[in-house]
Amino acid sequence: MTMSVTVLGLGEMGSALATAFLEGGQRTTVWNRTPGKADALVAKGAVGAASAEEAVAGAELVVVNVKGNEAARSILAAAGSLSGRVVVNLSDGTSGEARDLAAWVVRRGARYVHGQIMTIAPAVGHPDSVVFFGGDEAAFEQHAEVLLLIGGRATFLGDDPGAAALFGMAMNGTMWGTLNGFLHAAALLSSQGVEVKRFVEAASASLTGLLGYLPSLAEEVDRGEYAVPFGALKHHLPAAEDLVRESRERGIDVEFPACTAELVRAAVRAGHGDDSYSRLVERFRAGAS
Ligand SMILES: NC(=O)c1ccc[n+]([C@@H]2O[C@H](COP(=O)([O-])OP(=O)(O)OC[C@H]3O[C@@H](n4cnc5c(N)ncnc54)[C@H](OP(=O)(O)O)[C@@H]3O)[C@@H](O)[C@H]2O)c1
Repeated sequence: MTMSVTVLGLGEMGSALATAFLEGGQRTTVWNRTPGKADALVAKGAVGAASAEEAVAGAELVVVNVKGNEAARSILAAAGSLSGRVVVNLSDGTSGEARDLAAWVVRRGARYVHGQIMTIAPAVGHPDSVVFFGGDEAAFEQHAEVLLLIGGRATFLGDDPGAAALFGMAMNGTMWGTLNGFLHAAALLSSQGVEVKRFVEAASASLTGLLGYLPSLAEEVDRGEYAVPFGALKHHLPAAEDLVRESRERGIDVEFPACTAELVRAAVRAGHGDDSYSRLVERFRAGAS
């Protein structure tokens, strides 16, 4: 049986979502603030609505995907009655914003699920695309068939509507830290005229091993126990300082490796040199206090 789903917001991502719903056989109504963006979807079989209110009127499931939660709220506020509907908001923002919007939607008689899409628009609908959801579990289950059309690797994280945004932040933070380290390394290599792909090939086992290192780091952090028999922080320090010196000698920006070296140096100075690298989580935690 097909559901009736409405998509509010037809930017790059909203259009990809509506396309995935249509290709999944769902009756899909679409609306966008700026007219014209619905045309290609209407040509594929979507129903174009003249207003957000018209788009929401006949929908069981309302999917919002715009630039930020304030924009999502303003669209929902203009959409008339939300009573009895399930609102799935896939707009990026902080976990606190997601919780605020969830409470606002629930006060209007609807159920709320927040989703965080961890892929680019062209990969929407792919079986390996990761999506995090949190909020009203019964609402998620009721519409899981439609929501799983967004990405095959969808995880429902629990009743906190902020959880999906937080997991998204955790993923992005991990990604940017890794990419910055890699691109600094690429600058270093290319300063010597070395092709970066040659490094990726030669170091592939180490690079794969880096990903395999994360579960043990996660366990140490979760337990709050940082003692390790080998690979302690103090052994990272000379290499981190070498990277700063090498960068300086080559005229490469030193800010990123210098930050790493200083984090390690401070932990060693504080008497944690024999601990695992995971000890640095305490430094990040202290920064929030
Ligand atoms: N693109 C991706 O690959 C990707 C990946 C992961 C997550 N996301 C997230 O998906 C969301 C949408 O991104 P996008 O890439 O589709 O952006 P986009 O192509 O720039 O489109 C932005 C959408 O937001 C709407 N919008 C912005 N401000 C609005 C307002 N005040 N009131 C009503 N509508 C408003 C725009 O409407 P108009 O057409 O009228 O301007 C448009 O539909 C963002 O939260 C983004 O971070 C995107």
